[in-house]
Amino acid sequence: MAIKKDWTKEERYRPYQEWDKMYLTLLQEKIADSKWRLGYHIQPKTGLLNDPNGFSFFNNQWHVFYQSYPMGAVHGVKSWYHLTSDNLVEWKEEGTKIFPDSLYDSHGVYSGTALPVSDKLFLAYTGNVRDAEWGRHSYQLGAWMDSLGVVQKIKSPLISEPPAGYTSEFRDPQVFRYNGGYLMTIGAQDESKKGKILTYQSSDLLTWQWSGELNFTDKEMGFMIECPNLLVTEKATLLIFCPQGLNPETCSYRNIYPNNYVIGDSYDYKSNKIINPTTLKNLDEGFDVYATQAFQAPDNRLLSISWVGLPETDYPTDQEDWAHCLSTVKELIIKEKKLYQRPVAEMKELRTGEGVDLNEKSDSFFETYTNQYELNLSFAPHSCGTITLCADKEQKQGLTVNFDSQRGKITIDRSKAGTIFGEEYGFIRSFSVEQKPLNLQIFVDSSIVEVFINKGERVATMRVFPETNQTGIHLNCEGTYQGKMWQIRKTNQ
Ligand code: FRU
Repeated sequence: MAIKKDWTKEERYRPYQEWDKMYLTLLQEKIADSKWRLGYHIQPKTGLLNDPNGFSFFNNQWHVFYQSYPMGAVHGVKSWYHLTSDNLVEWKEEGTKIFPDSLYDSHGVYSGTALPVSDKLFLAYTGNVRDAEWGRHSYQLGAWMDSLGVVQKIKSPLISEPPAGYTSEFRDPQVFRYNGGYLMTIGAQDESKKGKILTYQSSDLLTWQWSGELNFTDKEMGFMIECPNLLVTEKATLLIFCPQGLNPETCSYRNIYPNNYVIGDSYDYKSNKIINPTTLKNLDEGFDVYATQAFQAPDNRLLSISWVGLPETDYPTDQEDWAHCLSTVKELIIKEKKLYQRPVAEMKELRTGEGVDLNEKSDSFFETYTNQYELNLSFAPHSCGTITLCADKEQKQGLTVNFDSQRGKITIDRSKAGTIFGEEYGFIRSFSVEQKPLNLQIFVDSSIVEVFINKGERVATMRVFPETNQTGIHLNCEGTYQGKMWQIRKTNQ
């Protein structure tokens, strides 16, 4: 049971320094006993994690921050928590770096991005402020982090209010270099309550001019767009974003809110338009991906990381005073206007030993003992069958992945994967894949499963909350397959 059960608004917004220091120690001790703690995914020490922020490469290291509320598994007053890495797969916790302690961010240091500029990392984020009537004010703010990891906030806002015609639902600045200057995208809502992406431009990062709405679709994008992320590369333009309240006829989805993308041939700066955009697509076919952030690394790879969790949804670990995690880092590849998402090559560094070959029997059960592994399966053409992950010996429980490569169909069912949650959004996700011999690369880590299909043609990510006896893999298929499994090294303390 959670240490604190009923959270009042006052408690959620109480400044961190007013909490007894022992409270966090107590939480941490209790959470350490959870059977659902993760081995190699970024997770909060205590409390709630949501969006990844400031994913970047600076001072010869990878950096990622996340939205954090450390006092409990609720959306309280947010800060930025910082982690660094030399290889994108082992992360070092650096602590809370941006606190909600100024006039412009008193009710939350909300999401944003980072950009290396000479010897500093420029951080752009939204300051969330509530007035006496609980009205929202959104400021786009800046800060500098030096090579020692010391952050200094820029005193006055970069943008102090939304342009005329837009509401205070105005947040999540993404800053990037463009044409010798800087561009910013911001998630917004117009006064008729339609979701929009606004752009700003700057030559010095401190003064910003509004340059209008980004034009990438003629469809309505729900009532609000969060976390826009525009990647303009030589070969293509990719826009990732989270429309809230999207009409499912525009792009079919079951999660409370989807994380979508479009790919265009290019971005035309003058008309603020993505040229020849595809229709809207789901970034992930699973149950829990949101607020994905991506950037082009100095080695030219497009890298992404996502929040694995959804807004306004309860998860079983809420009861244990912690919630959510980040996905593994993926490499994004765009080929002929199609997006492929693959685990970064560095993930191989986490494999232990040579791996175990899985035999080719059509009906087999493998005991993993750990639920912390990578599984690679290649099936003969026209195979169909079911893989059950997190299965118990009796095979009554488990997460089932049903596939039919001839029809090009995958169905994932988490209704028996352990403690159930999110019932109102359904237990099943079904989607199509190319009709070709199926390849699956699956990462399991205690309470998260990431399934990469056909070398990243599709990805399905989900949280599951199995019992401790659910550590098996059951494979039942018509047709032969080759399989290999590696235990994965634990990187979290
Ligand atoms: C998306 C989001 C962002 C906001 C942040 C607050 O999950 O709502 O729009 O900046 O979370 O934590």
